[in-house]
Amino acid sequence: MQAVAFYQSEFIDYLEKTLETKEPKNLYEPVTYILGLGGKRLRPVLTLMATELFDGNYRQALNAAMAVEVFHNFSLVHDDIMDGAPLRRGNQTVHEKWDINTGILSGDAMLINAYQLFESHDHDVFKELVQLFSKTAVAVCEGQQYDVDFETRDDVTIPEYLKMIEYKTAVLVACALKMGAIIAKTTLKNQELIYEFGRNLGIAFQIQDDYLDAFGDPKTFGKQVGGDIIENKKTFLYLKSLDRASQTQQKQLYDLFSITPDDPTSKIAAVKAIFNESGAVNATTKAIQEYTQKAFDALDEIELPEGRKAVFKAFGEDLMMRSV
Ligand code: IPE
Ligand code: IPE
Ligand code: MG
Ligand code: MG
Ligand code: MG
Repeated sequence: MQAVAFYQSEFIDYLEKTLETKEPKNLYEPVTYILGLGGKRLRPVLTLMATELFDGNYRQALNAAMAVEVFHNFSLVHDDIMDGAPLRRGNQTVHEKWDINTGILSGDAMLINAYQLFESHDHDVFKELVQLFSKTAVAVCEGQQYDVDFETRDDVTIPEYLKMIEYKTAVLVACALKMGAIIAKTTLKNQELIYEFGRNLGIAFQIQDDYLDAFGDPKTFGKQVGGDIIENKKTFLYLKSLDRASQTQQKQLYDLFSITPDDPTSKIAAVKAIFNESGAVNATTKAIQEYTQKAFDALDEIELPEGRKAVFKAFGEDLMMRSV
């Protein structure tokens, strides 16, 4: 096993070699634009790392890693349309820079391209990868629909929220890891354990994404801070605040989440004050730690030398510290 930075730079080299803007430009320019904007490249790096954890060679997994990153970027292009988001990775979102129709079609092309990337794998591995990937992609759609449905509901529960984020975010992280395990042809038991590691890490990751959406630094976060509050998203912070706040604050929060003012500045400030005062921020930090620990518990069960798995632990710990 190498360090995380090695897999990251190998993946970025491969990505840069394969990215080209074909004709028609209006279809492919947004694709090279969004994939070229960077991002953390977490999912493809996890695919490469999992391949090597189970004794494969990361080079065998470069196309699968690319597939997961292309799919992730497709989901972001469509997600930004659905969320009305102006900023992505510190730059204009695709539908802002071009228009909504361009975002829809370029996203569609990326989704199909993701599947094509599996074609380099042999028959048996191909089938397993595509089965896992399709199951994951449908779950992501289901999660996205729950996320949107929750915007206009005021009775969302924490278990419902947890299911929603598992589907929209965590299963793709888990899938990225399991694809590496499949390519390395490890045991089913190992495939399941690394999936569990990813699923829990993905849940922690999305709870933190919710936290950063409200409390991230606008200079470095890369997305519009307060976007979830503007869209009345039922995030962990919101649900925990309702649990803990006084009756007056509860009513205030319900009222604030039933309006969409033209200038959201004072709504965002009022909501963040309740998030802080109710103790929801502390509860959120705790939940991130708990799900990261669950991920580590799954990792512990993998029967491999501790030293071999250390890089995955470091990866999880770094994620908890992230600010973007
Ligand atoms: C953003 O994912 C979407 C979520 C699931 C929260 P990332 O935070 O991994 O986005 P990039 O790829 O690093 O920009
Ligand atoms: C995104 O969730 C999940 C998917 C793209 C499938 P968010 O809507 O919270 O992601 P960001 O915050 O826009 O990156
Ligand atoms: Mg979004
Ligand atoms: Mg969204
Ligand atoms: Mg978010």
